[in-house]
Amino acid sequence: MQRIAIVDPSDVTREPLRNLLLGVESVWIDAECTRYDFFPDIVQQNNPDVAIISLDADQSKALQLIQQLSVNYPNMPILAISGRGDGQSILQALRAGAREFLTQPVVLEDMLKALSRLRPDAQEGAGGGVNGLTIAILGSRGGVGCTSIAVNLGCSLAADKNNNVVLLDLDMALGDADVALDLVPTHTLVDVAQNVTRLDMQFLKRSLCVHSTGLSVLPHPVRIEEMYAIHEEHLQRALGLMRAAYTHLVLDLSKSFTPTDLTAMRAADELLLVTQLELTSLRNTVRILMGLESEEGLAEKVKIILNRVGSEEGDIDLAKAEETIGKPIYWQIPNDFKPMMASRNAGEPLIQYAPKCKAQQSIMGLANALSGKTAKSDQDGKKSEKSGGWFSWGRK
Ligand SMILES: Nc1ncnc2c1ncn2[C@@H]1O[C@H](COP(=O)(O)OP(=O)(O)O)[C@@H](O)[C@H]1O
Ligand SMILES: [Mg+2]
Repeated sequence: MQRIAIVDPSDVTREPLRNLLLGVESVWIDAECTRYDFFPDIVQQNNPDVAIISLDADQSKALQLIQQLSVNYPNMPILAISGRGDGQSILQALRAGAREFLTQPVVLEDMLKALSRLRPDAQEGAGGGVNGLTIAILGSRGGVGCTSIAVNLGCSLAADKNNNVVLLDLDMALGDADVALDLVPTHTLVDVAQNVTRLDMQFLKRSLCVHSTGLSVLPHPVRIEEMYAIHEEHLQRALGLMRAAYTHLVLDLSKSFTPTDLTAMRAADELLLVTQLELTSLRNTVRILMGLESEEGLAEKVKIILNRVGSEEGDIDLAKAEETIGKPIYWQIPNDFKPMMASRNAGEPLIQYAPKCKAQQSIMGLANALSGKTAKSDQDGKKSEKSGGWFSWGRK
């Protein structure tokens, strides 16, 4: 929780600012002040984590105040806000001692990002809430296991109570993450897209289904034709907002390389390309990697996930697969037909339906590895690596 004190003599700008902050769960408004000269006392009494100072009512007074507070309270970051976003105004505020500057009217994502940067623990660890770790899951053919991995990875990440995880079903036409979790959506991506201009955190949160594992889900549109109402910029905005509010975003992509898929791939920090040890899947993996190379920054993010290991009769072994793909296999998920099938049919994720099964253990390991944690069962990992098991620790 960040405790905040605001000073803004103008009701016209102070009220929307307060409303914006009231929608942010991680923020507590300690004090609201309408006069610059009263603000030092307010700060002294409340000792807030962040001071927000609006400049426009009287710029020189406001700058003076920033200067005074930054000297007296060097550990309290100051966020300056002004309708004048020109270089000169920004520079003046920063020189006076403000740590962040936002232009009026303040957009929620920008506010969340700025506040995150002002946290004492900012920039620590992966997906610390500053910028939710965005994991896109891409398949090398239909039925390769993307949705199974997306849903179970999402639930495994959500098992850590420090995480706040959201799954977006971006397989607009044929997605089935809602079925896999037995959720009946009240809202979908379409509602978010249609309200994108007035999208705020409360609306966004209301649009999500929350599963009993703690995973939030934004399902695909109910009617197929609705997918055409969802454009790249809608998704971009929704992702921006979610990145600020969640520690992890899991994106289950379609296999059609649509513009929204591409938007998701661009936004992703990690691109998990799911493949299997068989010809079609491997050939497509090579093709997809070649395709991704045409845009800078995409191919580099790819991690190869080998699914259903142990199910093949064929003669393609791991070394051969890695040689063909030209990239190491990052993670292997065993073939675990029964629990996978049964949990899908039951509409329950593995972590609830069969928490001890091999596939769940492996996906939990993947969740830990992606979060930059040591694996929950490090020992198991080492053991199974020695015996050529399901884990491939530390491989990149
Ligand atoms: N590791 C696995 N072991 C056994 N079956 C699996 C595994 N991963 C996925 N499956 C099965 O494969 C089928 C297709 O998986 P799905 O996740 O829907 O693929 P996609 O989303 O890529 O089309 C499902 O019936 C699922 O139960
Ligand atoms: Mg799917």
